[in-house]
Amino acid sequence: MDLSHMWFNFFSIFCLTGSSRAVGEFCKDYGEEFERVFSVPGESAMLNSTLRAPNVFNYTIVPHNISWYNSKTWRELTREKGKIVVRGTTLWIFNIEMEDAGYYVCIIRTPYGCFKQSNLLIVNQTIPDKCGRPYTTEQVLTNKANDKLSCPLTQHIRIVDNYTIQWYKECELITNAGNPLWGRFKTYNEKLLVDDVRPEDSGFYTCIMTFNLEGHRGRISDTIEGTVKMSFSLVPSVVEPLNNIIKADLGSPLRKRCRVFVPGVGKHRVSVFWAAEDKFISEKISEDNFQEPKSERKAENGVWLERVLNFPVVKEEHFYLNYTCQVSSDRAFVSAFFTLLPTDANHLLPLWILLTGLLMLTGSAFIYRPFKIDIVLMFRRMFPFLYTNTDSDGKVYDAYVTYPSLFGGEVSGEAEMFALHMLPQFLEGKCGYKLFILGRDSLPGQAIVDAVEESIQASRRLILVYSGTTFCSRGHSDKDSPVEAWQSFERQTAMHRTLLEGSLQVILVELEEITPTQLAFFPESVLHLRRRQGAICWWKSSRVRRNRGLKCGGCREMNEGEDRRGELASASVFSPSLSSSSRFWKELRYYMPVRGKRMSCPERTAC
Ligand SMILES: *[C@@H]1O[C@H](CO)[C@@H](O)[C@H](O)[C@H]1NC(C)=O
Ligand SMILES: *[C@@H]1O[C@H](CO)[C@@H](O)[C@H](O)[C@H]1NC(C)=O
Ligand SMILES: *[C@@H]1O[C@H](CO)[C@@H](O)[C@H](O)[C@H]1NC(C)=O
Ligand SMILES: *[C@@H]1O[C@H](CO)[C@@H](O)[C@H](O)[C@H]1NC(C)=O
Ligand SMILES: *[C@@H]1O[C@H](CO)[C@@H](O)[C@H](O)[C@H]1NC(C)=O
Ligand SMILES: *[C@@H]1O[C@H](CO)[C@@H](O)[C@H](O)[C@H]1NC(C)=O
Repeated sequence: MDLSHMWFNFFSIFCLTGSSRAVGEFCKDYGEEFERVFSVPGESAMLNSTLRAPNVFNYTIVPHNISWYNSKTWRELTREKGKIVVRGTTLWIFNIEMEDAGYYVCIIRTPYGCFKQSNLLIVNQTIPDKCGRPYTTEQVLTNKANDKLSCPLTQHIRIVDNYTIQWYKECELITNAGNPLWGRFKTYNEKLLVDDVRPEDSGFYTCIMTFNLEGHRGRISDTIEGTVKMSFSLVPSVVEPLNNIIKADLGSPLRKRCRVFVPGVGKHRVSVFWAAEDKFISEKISEDNFQEPKSERKAENGVWLERVLNFPVVKEEHFYLNYTCQVSSDRAFVSAFFTLLPTDANHLLPLWILLTGLLMLTGSAFIYRPFKIDIVLMFRRMFPFLYTNTDSDGKVYDAYVTYPSLFGGEVSGEAEMFALHMLPQFLEGKCGYKLFILGRDSLPGQAIVDAVEESIQASRRLILVYSGTTFCSRGHSDKDSPVEAWQSFERQTAMHRTLLEGSLQVILVELEEITPTQLAFFPESVLHLRRRQGAICWWKSSRVRRNRGLKCGGCREMNEGEDRRGELASASVFSPSLSSSSRFWKELRYYMPVRGKRMSCPERTAC
């Protein structure tokens, strides 16, 4: 055939130049095999010929014989009791002696020609004090991780029978089970598993394999230099999504984050991807959903990775799918998902509109503005079934409460009193809301930034309590400036994004009237919110009216009607009006998440 002709021409060129001293025949010489074989006296060695390969000849169709020769004697090595086994492409030499070192030549003969190659066997004594082989390969153990070493004899294992492997560290046998010295070590097939790696685990490890091969009993060993890598990244954990159901309105935007914590120090190689039912979601910004680039933030003992799945507009076809955040590292593959469902109150909406419409028709358009809050709250009380229950939205808290001391402002006892006592007393005690208040609810020892960010993410609202001096610079060093502190607080937490993107509804609670001078010190994000949505003013209903005669410009327009009442109340500054106080709580409740069928707040409350 053409092919064989080609092969023949090929050989004649080579075989004339390449000479074989072995058997007086001309073989194409493939030189010296790159991989050398190391052994020690008393053990066995396996040499493998790489000539039986597609780049040499087509061994699947061309018949061939494999022979091995010792280069010193040019004697063909065939099966020899207690010493030699030839199996396939491999030559096994048992009970190695120093004299066995040297070149072994493999010749493969085919009807069209032959090929030869030499393999070098190096025999050295074991290193006396280390009990290991003189030639070692390096394997890395990762500090603090559960890691493993692999015995490099996997090629041998495939061929031999009845093998057992024993591991030594330096000269000591690593014994399984029951030995406290080796409690963190466990042998598993050709692996040595090491739990909770420590720096002192570095050193020389030797695996010794005893085996049978065609009636011969042999032993082969290899030594690994285990080095402990101090920089490490452990198995990542997905903090969000929560494998739960997320509800969204058709046509509304939705952003869902995948948050992953990778414990460890140093470089990590962790990738984070969003997939919908195993279909990778595009990274290109588009009308359809896409994944934003991965972001990364260093923490004390690891790194936070985050990737947002962005639905510019939630469409019909986005519903009833599982969105999975897939995280892979060289240590593990982990994932978490959420299922997107349509908000179920949608079909009730027309009823709501109808009822509201009826109310407005009965001449109430007139009184609606001032009493909008009352009407809305009344609706919530009377028709709880009209509202979507927020319990299944994956959030843990109804509101996250932040007050001056958190970002370094001057802590007035008042603000603290309000945030730590009055607010929870009413919202938690009377209305059954669940609040997160830093200092009260964060775990001791938990890194502040992590606690803040996690808790904000797990909250439906953010209540920002501030007074006139909260953001005022004292004019000392920049580090102490509350505005600086606020900015760094914002940057460190999700606040900045939250405030700017409006992804979390923020409720501003103003404890006292703010003067224009104080206002000038306010951070842009707060000013922006205050302008856009106004604040709920506590001072209107309490005695905290220090800056008399000033209007709370940022307060809600809808309170116009209420303003007059507020003025009346403030006339008696030292006797806070019960009704206006209840007015404040009403307004707060109005902005809090709807409770649905859960317990409802008392209508008239004195705090
Ligand atoms: C011997 O070498 C061949 C060709 O490189 C390879 O396919 C085979 O796995 C090797 N066998 C052993 C036991 O190392
Ligand atoms: C070897 O021969 C078989 C059968 O003719 C053929 O399918 C295969 O592609 C050949 N392989 C090479 C490397 O030439
Ligand atoms: C292989 O060896 C057998 C037996 O020694 C012999 O009959 C056959 O011709 C040889 N084949 C080749 C390709 O050398
Ligand atoms: C191993 O033996 C070779 C000779 O066979 C010698 O050249 C080499 O230095 C020895 N190496 C060690 C590490 O003992
Ligand atoms: C493997 O070991 C078992 C029991 O020790 C023995 O019966 C069997 O013959 C051995 N197999 C080989 C191939 O040596
Ligand atoms: C989403 O995943 C959950 C849990 O694995 C499974 O029960 C549910 O059937 C999946 N839903 C879809 C739409 O594939």
